[in-house]
Amino acid sequence: MQDQQMRIENKKLKEELKLYKNLISELPFSFTYKDFDLGIQMEKKYRTSNVTTLHQISEVPYIERKNEFTITSDFDLDFEKIEGFLSSILDYVPHHIVFIDKNGIITLCNLKAAKDLQVNRDEMIGKHIRELLKIPDEQIALLQTLHSQKPIFDKEILDRNYGITNTRIIYNSDGSIKRIVGLFLFLNGIKEAEKQALAGRIAAGIAHEIRNPLTTVRGYLQLLQSSVDQGVSELFTTLLIPEIDRANKIINDFLSISKPSQFSTEKLQIAELIEGYIGNFLNREAHLHNVKMEYHIHASLKDCYIEGNRDELLQVFINLFSNSIQAAKETLPEIIVSAQRKGGMAYIQFADNGMGIKSSILNHIFDPFFSTKDDGTGLGLSVSKKIIENHKGEIRVNSGPSGTVFSLEIPIVINTPIE
Ligand SMILES: Nc1ncnc2c1ncn2[C@@H]1O[C@H](COP(=O)(O)OP(=O)(O)OP(=O)(O)O)[C@@H](O)[C@H]1O
Ligand SMILES: [Mg+2]
Repeated sequence: MQDQQMRIENKKLKEELKLYKNLISELPFSFTYKDFDLGIQMEKKYRTSNVTTLHQISEVPYIERKNEFTITSDFDLDFEKIEGFLSSILDYVPHHIVFIDKNGIITLCNLKAAKDLQVNRDEMIGKHIRELLKIPDEQIALLQTLHSQKPIFDKEILDRNYGITNTRIIYNSDGSIKRIVGLFLFLNGIKEAEKQALAGRIAAGIAHEIRNPLTTVRGYLQLLQSSVDQGVSELFTTLLIPEIDRANKIINDFLSISKPSQFSTEKLQIAELIEGYIGNFLNREAHLHNVKMEYHIHASLKDCYIEGNRDELLQVFINLFSNSIQAAKETLPEIIVSAQRKGGMAYIQFADNGMGIKSSILNHIFDPFFSTKDDGTGLGLSVSKKIIENHKGEIRVNSGPSGTVFSLEIPIVINTPIE
């Protein structure tokens, strides 16, 4: 009777086990089930439907006898694949993301991190994290987390780089460290912009303070001029006062690029502005310097107006004109000013036949204080650029051995005559 009962229970257990086995074989991941009371372990390996059953696993000390589930190895096995997939997505994240393994070796580095730290991303994979960050190990947040096994939350970092860092830990199923993940909100750009704005404000303040005493000195020089000998008076006119004026001009130019300028604007008819207002001035100068000047205003610009300040725009053309004369070759200097309509923009070109600009310096000519001339201040083009930008326009340059062309684009506001 008891035997009969045992047989029935055994049969029931076998059927139950079969049911569990079938269920477990359907799972899409590897799976281990241990029941220490029954002394049975069932295990299914990743990507197989085969379930192995192990009996008599009761050798585990009693206190540890609890039924446990672990989803294992498939995550470990495929982590590199997941990482590869993540990498392409993380390239779009505008913060630095770096993964390291338990030895501090970089396994993932997104493009933003590589770009800001000026390294080739592909060369960084497989290198130690210190080669990427180039700071001592004890300052590296990822290594701190690796050694302490404590993630870092929103910590401000100020070393070679400035920003907010976060680290997290990815564990293997056996509790060992798989990866340390670092996320760094890189704020160097913001710090740089703040520094530049501050430097600009200080410089503008100093320039402003120098201008006042210069005005006083100039006033007194003029006053004294009438009470000195003829010879000394000439020195006042040819050297002292022009030098003060030159210093004043440098300061005014500098202030005009460092401060947001406020100037009054009016509607300016392009053809009249170029051939009339600017042309009158340039023609006089051209005559003085023996330069051949030509103007070609395309019919498409007839009755087109821009919103601007004629004196500021004249200043741009004076700057371009003096650069062209200074770049003149032995031959007769020639300047052609042409203008046409390009969509909603007035497209003005200022071309000379001078010596041209070396391609190595072309990127710097609009920088304040960049000059290749002994007596140049290097402000002419940066002031011109600022003026054109204040007109919501753009200025570009093209240059070669046969000359230089500056192209200006300024938005057209009206293309019918105004009453
Ligand atoms: N038309 C040009 N042909 C050749 N080089 C030019 C021309 N225009 C500008 N450059 C180059 O660009 C540099 C910067 O020009 P920019 O007008 O800003 O300063 P600068 O002429 O040197 O000094 P300044 O402040 O007196 O104008 C010049 O020093 C020169 O090397
Ligand atoms: Mg110049």
